[in-house]
Amino acid sequence: MIPRVKARAVQQRLQKLIAQAGLASRRTAEEWIAAGRVKVNGAIASLGDRADLAVDQVLVDGRPLARAEQKLVVMLNKPSGYVCTLKDPQGRKRVTDLVADLPQRLFPIGRLDYNTEGLLLLTNDGELAQLLSHPRHHVDKTYLVKVRGHLNPQTSKQLTEGVRLADGVTLPARVANVRLQGKNCWFELTIREGRNRQVRRMCEALGLPVSRLKRIRLAFLELGQLPAGRYRPLSAAEIARLRSA
Ligand code: URA
Repeated sequence: MIPRVKARAVQQRLQKLIAQAGLASRRTAEEWIAAGRVKVNGAIASLGDRADLAVDQVLVDGRPLARAEQKLVVMLNKPSGYVCTLKDPQGRKRVTDLVADLPQRLFPIGRLDYNTEGLLLLTNDGELAQLLSHPRHHVDKTYLVKVRGHLNPQTSKQLTEGVRLADGVTLPARVANVRLQGKNCWFELTIREGRNRQVRRMCEALGLPVSRLKRIRLAFLELGQLPAGRYRPLSAAEIARLRSA
């Protein structure tokens, strides 16, 4: 039991408070609670415990949990040469460094490879991040792809109908705006899945190594003219539309 708990009307489950603070998903927060990493008013919390951050002190790994921050979602134009992980053992530049001027601690929704550029969403809203990253949440993602070699009707058909990869055949995709440039070729590829290195692996499987990759659209969101390395906050209307996408 949690001692000295007050203001019952505004108490919320600990996992919800931790997720709202952007520290982890509710499920991960439940694991932290079960592992004894969360304390309320000095006592180790149990699953099912509630608290009110206005009157109760909640510690996660000994650090006080702040009251829910203002929720924020930003669209970043990720430059090549940045990692999407929050810590990098090799000390490479992180996408979170590009939003470090914001008071909120943001984390990326999903991943783009180190060398992939373009549209990346970051947020402090753990619930929204979990919703959008769920494997069943298939939203269209359009990439501008440059490959060494030329896309021909046969390879284009394969990309469209599905490519056999080590982790299974890809879902149908769309190819558009194919342009040849010397020995290279540019095109737009729209996929609905988010498998690891999916576009690079699909093209490599067809003998077309990717030399440049940029995400230009995610669901209804367009990267537009946002300069590389810059971000813009999404509007409340855009966030609501994303939730229902
Ligand atoms: N597909 C890839 O191969 N890499 C990315 O970063 C995104 C999609």
